[in-house]
Amino acid sequence: MRQNFLARRFLEGCGGRFQKESQVAHFEAYTEVSEACTRDTILVTGGAGFIGSNFILSWMEAAGSAVVNLDLLTYAGNPANLSSLEGDPRYLLRRGDICDAELVGALLREHQPRAIVHFAAESHVDRSIASPGAFIRTNVQGTFVLLEQAKAYWSELSEADRLAFRFLHVSTDEVYGSLGPHDPAFSETTAYSPNSPYAASKAASDHLARAYCHTWGLPVLTTNCSNNYGPFQFPEKLIPLMILNALEGKPLPVYGDGKNVRDWLYVEDHCAAIRAVLREGRIGETYNIGGMSERANIEVVNLICDLLDEMRPHAATGPRRELITFVKDRPGHDRRYAIDASKLSRELGWQPAEKFESGLRKTVRWYLDHFSWVESVRTGAYLKWIAQNYTERVAL
Ligand code: NAD
Ligand code: TYD
Repeated sequence: MRQNFLARRFLEGCGGRFQKESQVAHFEAYTEVSEACTRDTILVTGGAGFIGSNFILSWMEAAGSAVVNLDLLTYAGNPANLSSLEGDPRYLLRRGDICDAELVGALLREHQPRAIVHFAAESHVDRSIASPGAFIRTNVQGTFVLLEQAKAYWSELSEADRLAFRFLHVSTDEVYGSLGPHDPAFSETTAYSPNSPYAASKAASDHLARAYCHTWGLPVLTTNCSNNYGPFQFPEKLIPLMILNALEGKPLPVYGDGKNVRDWLYVEDHCAAIRAVLREGRIGETYNIGGMSERANIEVVNLICDLLDEMRPHAATGPRRELITFVKDRPGHDRRYAIDASKLSRELGWQPAEKFESGLRKTVRWYLDHFSWVESVRTGAYLKWIAQNYTERVAL
């Protein structure tokens, strides 16, 4: 029993070439992998952000191997997201910039990771419209630096370690552009058609990742995921912004007619998909990840209002739906995203575990229970952004 447990833990964190249940049942598999792959630390970039911190927490639970987290701690990065790992010898946070080639190279040589999971990015579309430069720097230049340093490090590994190494590039469905109401969902072969500076910078980084695999054989995997929601999401994005405004009786600024559609995925499902791709994904492939939960923005906001009315009734505010205010639209606002995740489900058996309504309920509960986290991230810089983004968005 103990041997099987060890084998399973080791396999989860090691290359994944021997993942079949039947193999896990045999201790030989453990021996085979342990001989082949001598490293089990992973390097995560952007691990103090929303998805990165959820990923590290779930990785520690599921795989248990060491994580080095390289994060610049921009406004979106919060080391407190990982305070539960304080004192854990398997976890190390290094504050630094993915654009710093010397630092990235030194980290790779020092920690000898067997994989890089690359989340670090500027991630908010509205900010990319207000100041696109930072998106080109971090998302394009930063990914380039990371790929260059990964290639140099990987090419000097032993053959077994080179075979086991993976570079997992985390990307978005926004690279595919916008769908009409009856268009089929984005598949991995949908042509790229990015519409915002954010989407364009992510598309560029996807192309670079692909080129490093094609040209030099760097073992790259790419995932393109739909809109995430859940704990630790910075309250500039739709769902946490609406929860907090509704809680405080502030207007709920819905862009345009509120009928833009997003496909929502609970963040833990995204983390599970990334682990599956890291374990068993085919090198050079891209995998779409989605929640099969298309919702118009106005439906999402209505649901948040109803959940808060139920969970935190407030006689003075009245029904929170009354706070909804339609405001000036985002320029170039993509109308609809939808993801066909059938490749991931067919090849790796992944399915989202959370339904949108139950995931949203959990998320609202989390924000209610973690108000001190909310207060800690709503600093001066955050308040400045909110003023900048919403002051000029007059009500329609
Ligand atoms: P986030 O903005 O919450 O976090 C980004 C993290 O990257 C922060 O911790 C920040 O400090 C760090 N960072 C920024 N610039 C850096 C730099 N130059 N060097 C090192 N660290 C830096 O983002 P998120 O929502 O967690 O998204 C993570 C990744 O997932 C991004 O690549 C994003 O494109 C992708 N993605 C996000 C979603 C979503 O719905 N949020 C959906 C699909 C894909
Ligand atoms: P967002 O969370 O910024 O994610 P993305 O733009 O990457 O999809 O926005 C989700 C949707 O919600 C998008 O259609 C824009 C809309 N939205 C609003 O209507 N009001 C807001 O205040 C925000 C932040 C977003």
